[in-house]
Amino acid sequence: MKQKNSIAQETHAAQALRHIDKTTGSVVPPMLATSTFARDENYDLREGYIYSRYAGPTTTHAEDIIATLESADESLLFNSGMSASVAVVEALPSQSHVVAQSMMYHVGLQWLERQAARSVISLDHFPAGDLNALAAQIKPGKTNLIWIETPANGDWSVTDIAIAAELAHAAGAILMVDSTAAPPCTQQPLTHGADISFHSATKYMGGHSDFTAGVLSARKDLKLWDEIRSVRGFQGTILPAFEAWLLIRSLRTLHVRFAQTSNNAMAFANHFANHKDVQTILYPGLLNHPGHKIAKKQMQNGFGGMMSILINGADIRALEMAKQAELFIPATSLGGVESLIEHRRTVAGPDSGIPENLLRLSIGIEHIDDLIADFEQAFMATAGHA
Ligand SMILES: Cc1ncc(COP(=O)(O)O)c(C=O)c1O
Repeated sequence: MKQKNSIAQETHAAQALRHIDKTTGSVVPPMLATSTFARDENYDLREGYIYSRYAGPTTTHAEDIIATLESADESLLFNSGMSASVAVVEALPSQSHVVAQSMMYHVGLQWLERQAARSVISLDHFPAGDLNALAAQIKPGKTNLIWIETPANGDWSVTDIAIAAELAHAAGAILMVDSTAAPPCTQQPLTHGADISFHSATKYMGGHSDFTAGVLSARKDLKLWDEIRSVRGFQGTILPAFEAWLLIRSLRTLHVRFAQTSNNAMAFANHFANHKDVQTILYPGLLNHPGHKIAKKQMQNGFGGMMSILINGADIRALEMAKQAELFIPATSLGGVESLIEHRRTVAGPDSGIPENLLRLSIGIEHIDDLIADFEQAFMATAGHA
């Protein structure tokens, strides 16, 4: 029998940490939905569980799988990505200084700005991927949290996690990496020095677009960790048993879903890279993407399925293409098995800085020929706007 730590991530994930139910032999972990837990004859808690607002066995099982995949000591699951990131900022000392990208997931950004407007935190921004600009915004001894997203919503710019972590630690701050577009089968922020790895588990981890979830992972010695757990307990934002059970189901196929998604996206980007109707493709897997080299260093098993395509032609053309697509589904979100197309400026708003001619694609696991054919027909259907 091999030692546990020599077992590959794929194996841990596929077998849900070698789960076999002790009484029935079920190979699928059970879903234990209960709000409360009976004490034993000595009035002791049986397995440490007291009330489901704090923790429950199905959620703990999902957390243990993710902690293994993230090379973390512990993970905490939340009922959305937003509630996970909100808990981190809530856990900071009052009046903390936060540095975040000027382009990142727009609702996370809006929430930070709202907190700054209410003087709960002070906030400075830097352009995603620009480490010199990041360094200039850090206030040694004062900055508490640096929040990066890599690859980042919008142009999928890439930030060197190891350098960002060095900058954070030299100033006494912690680094949180929103790694939603790069799940742990390809990028493990903690192994590059980050303090917190953050995911909207709604996306690749969940992978089937059927629930929302968020997860934070860290090492035991992170000072903020117990406070984050307390915030989750106060707010009741823990991921419930049913969603945790769905998540365990999803994690079992994470590696194969992500590999197919990455292969499809690479083929799609290569096909359209020199297309007459394409101005630019922003995809970290392409050699000409400004973040390609760093992405290659820190995304070890594929570049994922997220890309943005700037369309040639009249401003209205990208929006029209989103309407004309027949297989790509016109919906927000990302990381599911089905491909999505989004006119991002419509969703993120005119203040987002997202150009009118940008289409955000989340490439799924369908047959690549069908995806290419659909995009080609959308170009043809909108030729009048070329
Ligand atoms: C990069 C990124 N981070 C965080 C979130 C927020 O996650 P959720 O929608 O699960 O709250 C999203 C959602 O789209 C996202 O794309």
